[in-house]
Order: sequence, then C-alpha cells, then structure tokens
Amino acid sequence: MRISVAIDGPAGAGKSTIAKLVGNEFNLMYINTGAMYRAVALKANEKGLVPSDVNKICDLISTMEMHFENDDLILNGENIQDKITLPEISNIVSSYASISEVRVKLVKLQRDMSNKFDVIMDGRDIGTVVLKNSNFKFFLTATAEERANRRYKELQLRNIECSYDDILKDIIDRDYKDTHREVDPLKKADDAIEVDTTGLNISEVTEKINSYIRQKIKA
Ligand code: C5P
Repeated sequence: MRISVAIDGPAGAGKSTIAKLVGNEFNLMYINTGAMYRAVALKANEKGLVPSDVNKICDLISTMEMHFENDDLILNGENIQDKITLPEISNIVSSYASISEVRVKLVKLQRDMSNKFDVIMDGRDIGTVVLKNSNFKFFLTATAEERANRRYKELQLRNIECSYDDILKDIIDRDYKDTHREVDPLKKADDAIEVDTTGLNISEVTEKINSYIRQKIKA
C-alpha cells in the first residue's frame, strides 16, 4: 500500500523545509505543489497572460512537463527553482492559483505522482483535496511576523534584495487570498494534526511530525 503524507499551512510556515526532512526519514518523494502553481504563474506572466485568460493558461499548462529532481522543480528540462521563489512571483501566484481550471489540471498531475510514488506533499489543499484519503495529515502554522522573518532571512542568505515589511505584507495578502478563494481554500482538514511552529526550531517540528507518523505506522 502507498504511503502519502499531507502537509498544509499558510505561506512561510516552514512546510517545505519540514517536508524534505520528514520525507528523508521515511523515504518519501517530496512534492512541492506551491512550486507547480508558481511555475504556472511564471510562464503565464512571461507570456503576458493575465488570470482572466483562462483558456490560454490551460493550453499553456498542457505544454508544461513538470517533475522534481533533488527537490527542485524541472520544467520542460529547465531547473526553474530559483526563478519561481523570487518575490515578484510570490506577489502574483495566488491570483493564478485561484482559477478553478488551473487547480483541476494541477491536482490531476499531483494525484498521478501520488499514485506512482510514496510521497510527502505540501501545499494548501493537500489534506482536504489532493490526498483526501491520506492517513497522515499535518497543518503547520506560525504567526505572520515569524513567518515573514523566516522568509526575509532566507532571501537575504540568497542575496535577494527585499524588505521585511514588503514580505510581511505579501504573506498577509496571500493568506487572505488563499483562505478566502472560492475553490479549495486553505483550511485545516478535520483529521489533520495542527502544529504551531512559533518558537520551535526545525528539528523540534520535524521530530514532532516524525513521531506522530511512527506512532500511526505502529498502530
Ligand atoms: O507554498 P508556496 O508559498 O510556494 O505556494 C505559493 C502559492 O501557490 C500559495 O500562496 C497559493 O496561492 C498557491 N498554492 C495553492 N495550492 C497549493 C499550493 C500552493 O493554491 N496546493
């Protein structure tokens, strides 16, 4: 039987860092679904497509072959991980992610991956939609200020110019859009375990999740 682990939560809650570590522990393929929505936003934006160009965006997605190598997103053979994590993509991605036709296409790609491999996926609708039947669901949270601070430090390490205030604003805006959109809004699945990561370090959060998974596997 396939194992699938779902990790949801708002922007900057530490989902990807934690998902990679938990994935290593249990030998799961890490699927960063946010990267897939970011790739759509990047390519649509490069082609001058705005979110109301729904049909053209859907045609564009049909030409996009996406897979992950060493946790990086490879799009049609090109590693686009650095490009899609720039602040300008963070600012626009939620508008493309709220298009229901886009979600249908990406959810199908994500489910196909989970049918082929044991996966750990992070995103906004993993426990509620993509891996609805998963036995392992987690919802990570932290205050907006702590999440902005983590993103700010991460971008500084990559020498990307940014201001803490702009990042905090982006996080608050995206939280609002992601939780208020009509299709598959960000929300905790009823059967997900909530982990508030405020004030916890990476290994404390990882160990919490690992031990829940071990306990469930044993049971
Ligand atoms: O996880 P990350 O912050 O990279 O996600 C970028 C954006 O992609 C989110 O703010 C959200 O709008 C969208 N997203 C989504 N559903 C997912 C993953 C991400 O709508 N499963």
